[in-house]
Amino acid sequence: MKKIKCKFNINGNHKDLLIYEEKPLIYVIRDDYNLKGTKLGCGLEQCGSCAVIIDGEKKLSCNILAKDCVSSKITTIEGLSSNDNLNKVQDSFKKYNAAQCGYCTSGIIISLSALFNKNPKPSKKDILKSLEGQLCRCGSHSAVFKAIQNIIKSN
Ligand code: FES
Ligand code: FES
Repeated sequence: MKKIKCKFNINGNHKDLLIYEEKPLIYVIRDDYNLKGTKLGCGLEQCGSCAVIIDGEKKLSCNILAKDCVSSKITTIEGLSSNDNLNKVQDSFKKYNAAQCGYCTSGIIISLSALFNKNPKPSKKDILKSLEGQLCRCGSHSAVFKAIQNIIKSN
C-alpha cells in the first residue's frame, strides 16, 4: 500500500501527515491527532459513534478515506467547545446527564450540533432525521430527548 502526503485541518489544527492511501479518517483523528472522543464502533457506517462534522455536515468517519478530506474543515467532539466553554448541546447533555456508558454520546452530540448550527429551532422531524443511524445500546434515550427539549427552549 502506498503512502501519500496529506494536509489536514481538524478543529483548526493544521497538520501535514504521511498516511496510507486507504487510511480511514477516524484513524487520523484518533491516532495522528490523538483525539479519542470520536469512537470506533461498527466500522461499517451502521452505529454513528464515529460521527464528525465535515464542512458543516455530519459524516461518519469510519468509512471516509482521510485523503478525501484534505481540503475540508473537520470538527470533532473536542472542537465543539471553545475556551473550555461547552456548546449548547454539550451543556444540555451534561445538565440532563444524557449518557450512560457514553460510547454513543459524542456521535449524538455531533449530529445535534450540526443540526442546531444550521437551524436553532428544528422540527421534531428534523431532529429525528439528524439522529437517524445514531445507535445507543444503553438507555439514554429519554434523557437525550429532555436535553434536546432544553436546547430548543433556550434558543
Ligand atoms: S463506527 Fe462508524 S458508523 Fe459505526
Ligand atoms: S450511553 Fe451507552 S451506548 Fe449510548
